Amino acid sequence: MKVAPSLLSCDFAKMGEEIVRIDKAGADMIHLDVMDGHFVPNITIGPAIIKSVRPYTKLPFDVHLMIDYPLDYIDAFADAGADIITFHLESMSDPDMTIEKIKLRGIKPGVVIKPNTPADAVFPYLEKVYMVLVMTVEPGFGGQEFMADMMPKVVAIKDEAKKRGLDVLVEVDGGISDKTFSFAADSGVDIVVSGTGVFKADDAAEAIRLLKNTK
Ligand code: DX5
Ligand code: ZN
Repeated sequence: MKVAPSLLSCDFAKMGEEIVRIDKAGADMIHLDVMDGHFVPNITIGPAIIKSVRPYTKLPFDVHLMIDYPLDYIDAFADAGADIITFHLESMSDPDMTIEKIKLRGIKPGVVIKPNTPADAVFPYLEKVYMVLVMTVEPGFGGQEFMADMMPKVVAIKDEAKKRGLDVLVEVDGGISDKTFSFAADSGVDIVVSGTGVFKADDAAEAIRLLKNTK
């Protein structure tokens, strides 16, 4: 599995240095959680911060938009240096228009579903996206309990993509640690996001190595 450490759990006062640290520790990409205080009851970072930390690594920026109107901000996050932009199907923006806009900017599009949203909600978009992000916590905060009952959704999405001959990646996000990553590995997950599991670990490189679960 590829590992995308989530900056939500890093020391925000040293975000640039934290990115360098986890880049050196073997991260495959950087997961940046954007929250608007409306779609989720928390506010984090926006395009200006992402632009300022962009020069600290060459790793892909996996930008997770937990905002009400993602379509309105695709240009801002594209200009800031996003490589992947994922947005929630539960948001107020039209998914097809948002996917199109992301692609128009030459960025990889992904759709995200919250725990209460069924797997087949993403089926209409499988032909159009690079990735599907299945939340394994209620979005808004790091350090929450992993929801193992989300794994059947991962399997259903992977099966449907396979049936259609599509190689859509599936990413899971929330509560992934040395204790829970095996559920994701067993379900065929391609990318795991981990915030506290990496940033609160004594040895980030060791934590990342474990999560990669390379046989
Ligand atoms: C939650 C975010 C997650 C979170 C993961 O809304 O989307 O990316 O930062 O943090 P952990 O791994 O600590 O659950
Ligand atoms: Zn996230």
